[in-house]
Amino acid sequence: MAEDWVRVASAADVAKGQVIGVRVGDRDVALCRTRDGALHAIDNICTHEYARLSDGWLEDDELECPLHAGKFDVRTGEALCPPVETNVDRFEVKTEGRDIFVRIP
Ligand code: FES
Repeated sequence: MAEDWVRVASAADVAKGQVIGVRVGDRDVALCRTRDGALHAIDNICTHEYARLSDGWLEDDELECPLHAGKFDVRTGEALCPPVETNVDRFEVKTEGRDIFVRIP
C-alpha cells in the first residue's frame, strides 16, 4: 500500500558513490547510490558491534563498516567478510520525481 512508503530524501541528496543515513520510523537506514546510479537501502547499524554504516565507505556494491572494516553487499544486505557474519536487513527503495522513498516491512 502507498502509505507503507516513507519519503526519506531528495534524489539530489545522495550522489553516485555516496551513502547517507536516514530515519524511517525507529529504523536507522543506510541509503546508498552506487556508481551506476542504482539506489539501495539497508539497515544502518553494523551487525558486529555498534557502528553506523553510513559513516563508512561505499565502493561499487560493497559498504565497508568504519569500525572494523567488515563489508556488506548493499544490494542484498549480505555480510561479505570477517568480522561481520550476520547479514543486515535490506529494504525496498524507489524514486518518484525528485523524491526517494523507502519501505520498511
Ligand atoms: S562494528 Fe562493523 S565490523 Fe565491527
